[in-house]
Amino acid sequence: KHDVLTTIVVFGASGDLAKKKTYPALFHLYQQGLLPRRTRILGYARTQMERDSFTSRVTSFFKKDTPPADIEGFLAICGYVSGKYDVAEDFIRLREEIDQQEHAMAKRAEDERVHIYYLALPPSVFVSVGTQIRTNVYDGSCTNRVVIEKPFGHDLESSRKLSKDISALFAEDEIYRIDHYLGKEMVKNILALRFANVFYEAVWNRHYISNVQITFKEPFGTEGRGGYFDEFGIIRDVMQNHLLQVLSIVAMHQPQSLRSEDIRDRKTEVLRRILPIQLEDTLLGQYVGTRDGSKPGYKDDDTVPKGSMTPTFAQCVLHVDNDRWRGVPWVIKAGKALDEAKMVIRIQFKDMPNALFPNLARNELVLQVSPKEAVYIKTIVKEPGLSTNLAMSELDLSYHKRYQDVKIPDAYATLILDVLNGDHSNFVRSDELDEAWRIFTPLLHQIDSDQVIPLPYEYGSRGPKGVDEFATERAGYKLTSR
Ligand code: BG6
Repeated sequence: KHDVLTTIVVFGASGDLAKKKTYPALFHLYQQGLLPRRTRILGYARTQMERDSFTSRVTSFFKKDTPPADIEGFLAICGYVSGKYDVAEDFIRLREEIDQQEHAMAKRAEDERVHIYYLALPPSVFVSVGTQIRTNVYDGSCTNRVVIEKPFGHDLESSRKLSKDISALFAEDEIYRIDHYLGKEMVKNILALRFANVFYEAVWNRHYISNVQITFKEPFGTEGRGGYFDEFGIIRDVMQNHLLQVLSIVAMHQPQSLRSEDIRDRKTEVLRRILPIQLEDTLLGQYVGTRDGSKPGYKDDDTVPKGSMTPTFAQCVLHVDNDRWRGVPWVIKAGKALDEAKMVIRIQFKDMPNALFPNLARNELVLQVSPKEAVYIKTIVKEPGLSTNLAMSELDLSYHKRYQDVKIPDAYATLILDVLNGDHSNFVRSDELDEAWRIFTPLLHQIDSDQVIPLPYEYGSRGPKGVDEFATERAGYKLTSR
């Protein structure tokens, strides 16, 4: 068997994403012994840095109590090249550095080589960097993989333009579009839960499920990130991507196999069955400061333009129009500066048609994605003891209790491992992306053209007044919500 030589180039190595996610994830894989035996990691950015300042910078990305030997070992496989993002000579130098690194790994003619280009960069330079890579670095004799991350455009048209430009440079199977929610433990668990247990799939349809609620809540506001956020708003920032991706996995039919294209085919099918979301099915909010002045409002953030009408909260009710789901409302909700940090999927079952026990509360299956992974089923039991009353209880699989010894990896670590393995299952295919934009683009355009004013809600609250009533009204019946 031929040995594999792997080179990972992190573009934007001095930026925020590289610091917070890419390098820590690579380091985690290194510590776990999961990087291929012969791997080199090259950072690329504009900042001129000597080796010393580069290594102390990378070291600063890691936790204080990290064993120094681990850091040292990791740094030994890391290098750095400084260069501009549009200068051919700089990319030629990068190419030479890659060659040198491969020689340092004792390259032999028969070795299989993998080049991974991780663009931890703003999308405005994707195409220019992609073009430079394609012309001056890309090597047709090895496997090339390009990793990019949202925002992929800001509507259907701009996303298509970006896809077209990128597909002129790389083949679809060379492209890995990150949606980091697909790397989260509980999101990856949905497939197993649904298709490896006999009882879930049996009730996973409109005959038994009343509604599905997918909720993303953050307890903090933009906090200085308003410049980026204001251009996008909550719908583009988390709904069109993270929430819709999760929805498509909850809703999809069983794939033919676990091959990535089979999975992505099924997810895309779901998205195709969702009509564009209507403004009347959408509630928008924007947070204001707390009454006591302790927390600022969105517009108090200096990085947010005065008079901004960008939503920091949105709730939409949508339908998946196929035989499995017809008539079942899906309520997706996302907001910043709310009362808690939580990402949760709640599958609420229909009322129990039963004369024996009237007026029962509904069963509910809850998949908690964060902060603490958990699966629980709200189940009615007889109150233990001498009582014959019924009580709502839970079949509870909380990971921190059941899997105490397992350290749940960061989403980026699992996704980079997938890239190393050439597995696309947890990455967004171009047709999925296109469908996701199709669903939201008319709404986004209407919000802009009608200058829809978001409803105010107080920082730290549950959202604008009337969110639950709104969902009830749009869904056509009362949803139990929390
Ligand atoms: C990002 C959004 O994609 O996801 C952020 O741009 C958001 O606004 C973040 O805070 C949430 O990710 P996580 O992993 O912290 O839930």
